[in-house]
Amino acid sequence: MTWLITGGAGYIGAHVVRALTAAGEQTVVYDDLSTGSAARVPDGVPLVTGSTLDGERIARALADHEVTGVVHLAAKKQAGESVARPLRYYRENVEGLRVLLDAVTAADVASFVFSSSAAVYGMPDVELVTEDTPCLPMSPYGETKLAGEWLVRATGRATGLATASLRYFNVAGAASPDLADPGVSNLIPMVFERLTEHAPPRVFGADYDTPDGTCVRDYIHVADLAEAHVAAAQVLRSRPGRDLTLNIGRGEGVSVREMIDRVTAVTGHDLAPVTAPRRPGDPARVVASADRALTELPWKPRHDVQDMIRSAWEGWLRLHPEAAARP
Ligand code: WQD
Repeated sequence: MTWLITGGAGYIGAHVVRALTAAGEQTVVYDDLSTGSAARVPDGVPLVTGSTLDGERIARALADHEVTGVVHLAAKKQAGESVARPLRYYRENVEGLRVLLDAVTAADVASFVFSSSAAVYGMPDVELVTEDTPCLPMSPYGETKLAGEWLVRATGRATGLATASLRYFNVAGAASPDLADPGVSNLIPMVFERLTEHAPPRVFGADYDTPDGTCVRDYIHVADLAEAHVAAAQVLRSRPGRDLTLNIGRGEGVSVREMIDRVTAVTGHDLAPVTAPRRPGDPARVVASADRALTELPWKPRHDVQDMIRSAWEGWLRLHPEAAARP
């Protein structure tokens, strides 16, 4: 049994490859290296460089490596950018998926795990988001993930492909410093960047209808998220025809202010945050009900927010050694 991981050279994909390998599965990475890095692919795991829009190349990779399961993470993922470049997001995330599924259904593949996002919910008006909370995405990025889920489910129903769509909440941390997210487009690395520049971290909006006025999110360690993929992959293999849609979060809300306080404590940079204007499109609160995943999968998250910040900081220091706080 071999799993093809598209986007396996990316931040989350590299963790998924390691988790599958640790669970004794064979893996092959398919990645266009546009944002991923070959250095993240472990020794002994084949890397096929190619786009998900290239159906022939995918078909060849599936046949050459006798692939029987696919974990599809290759996608564009910046919600803000997707507002300015919707065509690019639909091409890469929806058309890329359609081309991939075309090749998958023509090959000997039985299971398909799809990387979806809490962005499908948009601005949910509930304490805990369940999988039955209405999906009203607020960005083209979120729309492409929702359309992707539909495409995956419809294909599964038509062909018998066992499918799972995993809706990631806010992913953070790293299993090792070399696997940290090198980007600075999320709260934790954005705070790191400010602290490195000796600038105060920014709170985007302190007048939300939340306990401390700042946005509340559900943070999940990338190593736990990777384990959820392994669990989903194994469940699909044992139950052909299965069709799962699962929130992958911890069910614990943490505010931006709490997060920044913890980051300053971990890093030793004691700079009080400043309040900046709200970021357009930010929902006040997005926290998962993780009940369905806990029931359906042999899985539970093991890492807390402290682990996420600490491991992310180790990765940050590797790339930005000047960021170390002077005693
Ligand atoms: C978290 C909170 C910010 C930086 C995004 C995408 C989503 C998914 C995950 C992809 C927000 C606040 C941030 C800062 C701040 N993407 N913030 N100061 O927006 O919940 O989710 O990433 O796969 O689709 O939208 O995550 O980390 O950007 O922000 O106050 O310097 O932190 O306003 O409330 P978000 P985030």
